[in-house]
Amino acid sequence: MKATYYGQSTFEIETGGKKLLFDPFISPNPMAKAIDINSLKPDYILISHGHGDHVADLLAIQKNSGAVIICIAEIAGWLGNQGVENAHGMNIGGGFDFDFGRVKMVNAIHSSTMPDGSPGGNPAGFLIKAEGKSIYYAGDTALTYDMKLLAEEKLDWAFLPIGDNYTMGADDAVKACDFINCKNVIGMHYDTFPVIKIDKAEVKQKFLMAQLNLKLPEIGEAIAL
Ligand code: NI
Ligand code: MN
Repeated sequence: MKATYYGQSTFEIETGGKKLLFDPFISPNPMAKAIDINSLKPDYILISHGHGDHVADLLAIQKNSGAVIICIAEIAGWLGNQGVENAHGMNIGGGFDFDFGRVKMVNAIHSSTMPDGSPGGNPAGFLIKAEGKSIYYAGDTALTYDMKLLAEEKLDWAFLPIGDNYTMGADDAVKACDFINCKNVIGMHYDTFPVIKIDKAEVKQKFLMAQLNLKLPEIGEAIAL
């Protein structure tokens, strides 16, 4: 299993021969200008919520790839109105066995509106079980006690927002690692906008002091999970 970073909260996880793209926001992101969205051919696109910095390239990449979109029921309905027929709607607390593994939709504390102002239902995170591994993709969220429900999932990796202002910052992300009982973290949702710029050295130090393994991959970089 490997994960490639495409900026903001966009990752592609390859597992069991399938490609899972999370929250595609690439073409509007100057930091990701080296990435051509036409080169992405995911089998699935997972959407945590409807904000533009998570769905900007959703329709273009879906059209290009025919990917199945995994998202909350309200976003699946919105996609239907855009002419996208193969969205798989879920809701918080529900899981489903896909051909690559199991996805459970979990709580996130945030908001969710589509770029055109339509309601996007509740924001979500994802618990992914594939290849014998457990992965938590938090989406945009505050620190919440609900994360403690993940403590028994034997998480191998957690994708956590660390940019502050719109989501958890680094201090709360360190606390989240305790709640979810996971030491391996991939940081996301930082540096893209002025209000979420981080001091990488300072953030790395916070995780190091808590004996946590924080990865901050470069855009375009892949890491083995
Ligand atoms: Ni958001
Ligand atoms: Mn966001």
